[in-house]
Amino acid sequence: MDFITKKSNKLNGRVKLQGDKSISHRAALILPLCHGDAVVKNFLFAEDTMNSLKAMRMLGADIKIVNDEVHFKARGIKSLKPTVKSIYLGNSGTSIRLISGILSSIDGYFAVYGDDSLCKRPMKRIIDPLNMMGARVKSILNNDKAPLLIKGGKLKGIEHSLEVPSAQVKSAIILAALNAEGETKIKEKVKARDHTERMLKYLGADLEIGKDEIRLRGGQKLQARDIFVPSDFSSAAFIITAAALTENSEVIIEDVLLNPTRTGFLEAFRDMGGQFEILDLREANNELIGSIKVYSSKLKGITIEGAIIPRIIDEIPLIAVLAAFAEGETLIKDAQELKYKESNRIESIAYNLKEMGIEYEIREDGLKILGNTFVVKDKYNFYSFKDHRIAMAFALVGFVLDNVRVYDCDNVRTSFPDFIKVMEGINGKINMI
Ligand code: S3P
Repeated sequence: MDFITKKSNKLNGRVKLQGDKSISHRAALILPLCHGDAVVKNFLFAEDTMNSLKAMRMLGADIKIVNDEVHFKARGIKSLKPTVKSIYLGNSGTSIRLISGILSSIDGYFAVYGDDSLCKRPMKRIIDPLNMMGARVKSILNNDKAPLLIKGGKLKGIEHSLEVPSAQVKSAIILAALNAEGETKIKEKVKARDHTERMLKYLGADLEIGKDEIRLRGGQKLQARDIFVPSDFSSAAFIITAAALTENSEVIIEDVLLNPTRTGFLEAFRDMGGQFEILDLREANNELIGSIKVYSSKLKGITIEGAIIPRIIDEIPLIAVLAAFAEGETLIKDAQELKYKESNRIESIAYNLKEMGIEYEIREDGLKILGNTFVVKDKYNFYSFKDHRIAMAFALVGFVLDNVRVYDCDNVRTSFPDFIKVMEGINGKINMI
């Protein structure tokens, strides 16, 4: 499936999005480790998060989808059992890394794998700490990538310093530590998204969270509680970008997750001159939530680097698109991790900027983009590199430059299956063929 987008005007309306992907994964994976019943509202029904639900069901978790809700009858980690079948996790890095932490502490053998893209992503970052805790996690092809064979069992707490800021690695260790003997300390120099810590606290876990260290003891009993999943911030960022770039626009996105470890994009957007307001700021199940009202904006280039990078990492394709229409130069630094996402995002972004005629420079740790250097053409042919965020980000270019085709966009179903419907709903000219 390809996206076709055309020049648009006056994006407007109110948008309500499905739940946040990171929080939906964590609800699917953590609630079965609790005791009691819980209902999850506004769960993201997309391929990645369904893979987390299916995997937990394979281990024996009692999970039912009732209308738009997900119902859990949780009986603790001891009720989860090995499965003779390998566990397939599709395109989802969050599923494979987080579940590997859980499986490491369950007695038995497990095999986990995913699609071609997932089997190319680095796993040494979880293999090493989980093995230090006493699990036996092995890359079957000996390349430090999935498929992984995991022999889970009795674990002990460890002290571990995160080499790269990664919420997935941090969460894999925390989930293993929940069922390990003794204390686990995780040192985190640059803070990555903290939804696992927040959800565990909400479910009654005792976690000490210092400035750059997390401590927890194993053997804690978690209590299942209902969860309302705020709307996905990363999906909202596509709407913010679309409205900012399209003339005469004014769009409200309701009840969006506004956890500060996720909202680096809003800070960068504001620094670029982006016009928006936050409304109805409040808390829901230990997460910050609010509505975002965004307007067409005149933008200028900025530098993003350092501690903001993990808080904006998934939105960098959108920063690149905004930068292409901003006055002056945008510099993206310290973002080597972009190479290890669903595609090598430094290369995928560069390929599509080239198709726009934009002047750019690839750097070891990011990109330099010279705004407003695009060439006016009859049509622009972008490629998604089978990466959902690249597909959606470059589709938005058509709202400004007209006649865009993005090839191979099926992977959008992994995170934002309603993308076309939502964009049409606010007056965006988008189609698929
Ligand atoms: C995620 C963490 C990030 C992010 C991914 C979702 C999570 O990955 O890019 O889309 O839900 O924990 P890393 O932990 O690899 O940085």
